[in-house]
Order: sequence, then structure tokens, then C-alpha cells
Amino acid sequence: MLRIAINGYGRIGRSLLRAIYENGYRQQFQVVAINELSDIDTISYLTRYDTTHGRFPKPVSVDESRLIIGEDSIQCFSERDPANIDWKSLNIDLVMECSGSFSSRHDAQRYLDAGIPRLLLSQPASSEVDATIVHGFNEHDLSNQQTIVSAASCTTNCVIPVFDVLQKLCGLEHGTTQTIHSAMNDQPVIDAYHTKDLRLTRAAISSIIPVDTGLAKGIARLMPSLSGKIECNAIRVPTLNVSVVDMVVRTNSDVTVEQVNDALRNAATSKYAGIVGFTQEPHASVDFNHDPRSVIIDGTQTKVVDSRMVKLLCWFDNEWGYANRMLDVAVQWAMVLKS
Ligand SMILES: NC(=O)c1ccc[n+]([C@@H]2O[C@H](COP(=O)([O-])OP(=O)(O)OC[C@H]3O[C@@H](n4cnc5c(N)ncnc54)[C@H](OP(=O)(O)O)[C@@H]3O)[C@@H](O)[C@H]2O)c1
Repeated sequence: MLRIAINGYGRIGRSLLRAIYENGYRQQFQVVAINELSDIDTISYLTRYDTTHGRFPKPVSVDESRLIIGEDSIQCFSERDPANIDWKSLNIDLVMECSGSFSSRHDAQRYLDAGIPRLLLSQPASSEVDATIVHGFNEHDLSNQQTIVSAASCTTNCVIPVFDVLQKLCGLEHGTTQTIHSAMNDQPVIDAYHTKDLRLTRAAISSIIPVDTGLAKGIARLMPSLSGKIECNAIRVPTLNVSVVDMVVRTNSDVTVEQVNDALRNAATSKYAGIVGFTQEPHASVDFNHDPRSVIIDGTQTKVVDSRMVKLLCWFDNEWGYANRMLDVAVQWAMVLKS
């Protein structure tokens, strides 16, 4: 059983804990500690009640600085600097780093120096970390020598399996993606001075807001043959959760809508079972809230222009899908460590 800690108990950190109890991961993980800047009563409250995902599936209470979940007891800390926690005495195997504050090897090294053997980052990292893993695509790249690994971004987890399927079906020449992403906690509810990105100072509930995205870099890192060939944009919209990528690619050989949809439908039941979904129901984004898959292709929206331009609509639950993939990466890493 892997002994883990969650650092940063926000949307992703809490989704991780919930997925451990809800989706059967508890057999593989014991959550030993949570480090979050808030106080234990607020941590408990936000564990029990969640506007997006509903009530926690188990009883949750507080015992001094410990969060009690059913029979389990989790030590909680409130330290901005990981070096201030005596991780060694907790005998942690892996920290799930979900604060968004440690994305370079240099920053993440603070954990290793504090006695943590391994770190899994909930975001794309600078290139010098040991690996960037999109579960289903390259988890075989995990090794027991690695100490700092990134689980990429939710959007990278959405598009890479789709590009992989298309690359094999018809080859990819170039393309663009537009991510339409639900609101996040780096946006204010109403206008506020809170970030250096001017557009992120604007009220999340009032506007459709273009934001920067590192997706093109993430795609190039995972699929070097697409380096410089895919350009990406992103906008935030006033919904709580669930996002969608509108993807347009030029292919190397002729295809039809049926061939593209068949390839993606087949991937959903073979190589990418549990990771890719395929639907032809008339859906709205809310239908994918709490969906654990990395991407669900909306086959009703697939278009092909002139045999070589393919347009796809790819849904994903940016919180729940991503948290489940992060846990899959951790499970895989644990298996590699054991072997
Ligand atoms: N939300 C998504 O859809 C999504 C999907 C995939 C990946 N991610 C990535 O996951 C990371 C977290 O995103 P999120 O949406 O979960 O953000 P969030 O809801 O803001 O959660 C981050 C939490 O970490 C806390 N924190 C900040 N610095 C800390 C530190 N040094 N030590 C301990 N806790 C600290 C924050 O506290 P304060 O609020 O007090 O600062 C906050 O509660 C980001 O890198 C994001 O890009 C997010």
C-alpha cells in the first residue's frame, strides 16, 4: 500500500481524496497527510460538501489536527514551505503536489530535501523533471529511478489520446485546438487585482475570457513529431466544471467522418478503454460532470472538410477526470517500484 500525502487541498487535491474513497483506489493508497494553507475546520467542511461533486461518500470529522474519514485518520498541516514539515517521520512514499506552487525541479527539490522520496505534480512542469506522463499513452516511461514526475495538464490528457488515434489512422500534418475551459480558482468572482495576467483580473462569472495556455508545448513534449505543428488557444467560461476542446487538424491521408468516428469508438473499447469515451447522444457539458475519463468524443460534432480537414469536439471533466488519471499514474508508478 502506497503511503501518500496531498499538498494543496483545493479542487484537484480534494478530488484526489474523494476519488480514492469513491473509485476503489483506497486498496492501493493510504492518505497519511494533507498540507493546505487553510484551517482544519474549513478543510473538513469543504471535504464534506462540494458544490460541483456533491457530498463526500463517507463520514468526515475532525480530531484536533486530524481529518477522520471512516476508520482513517489523516494528519493535516498548514505550511507554505514543505521544508517545515517532518515528512521523514510520516514515512511517505509519494506526495501528490496539487498546490500549483512547485512546477520546476528546483522548487520541487524542496520536498526531496525534506525527506520525500517521490513527487507527482498536478500540472505541466519545466522540462528538467524526470517525466511527463499521460496515462494510457506513455505510462510505460515511468521508472524506479525517477523522483519528480508530472501528470501533465487536464487538457493534455484530453488531446493526446485523440491525436494518437488520428496519427495512426490518417497521419497529422498540422492543426489548432481551442480549449473552452470552466472557471478556476485563479480567477476572481468579480474584478480584482490578483494576478499579473490582466485578463485574469476580470470577473469569472461575467465574461468569456481568453487565457494563455501551454498546451502546444505539452503536446510537443509528449508527441515530438507534432512539435511546431499544433497551435493552441484557451478561453475560460462561467461554468463550474467540465471543459471541451474544439480541435481542427489537417491529415496526411483522406478520411471520412465514419472512419474517424469508428477509430475513436474502437479506441474507447481497446487501447484507451476507461480513458477515451465516445458518444453520439445530444449532450451538454453538465452531462460530463464527475466523469472519470480523460476525454469523451462527441461523435455528433465530427466534421470532415475536403477529405483532409478533421474537426472534433472533445469533452472532459477537468477536475474529476484529471484526479482519476493522477491516481492511475501513481498506481502505475507504485507497480514499477515494486517490480
Ligand atoms: N482545477 C482543474 O481543473 C485542474 C486540472 C488539472 C490540473 N490543475 C492544476 O492543479 C493545480 C491546482 O489547481 P486547483 O484547481 O486545485 O487549484 P486550487 O483550487 O486553487 O487549489 C490549490 C490549493 O493549494 C493551496 N496552496 C497554495 N500554495 C500552497 C503551499 N505552498 N502549500 C500548501 N498548499 C498550498 C491553495 O491555498 P490558497 O488558496 O490559500 O492559496 C489552494 O487551496 C494547478 O497547478 C492547476 O493548474 C487544475
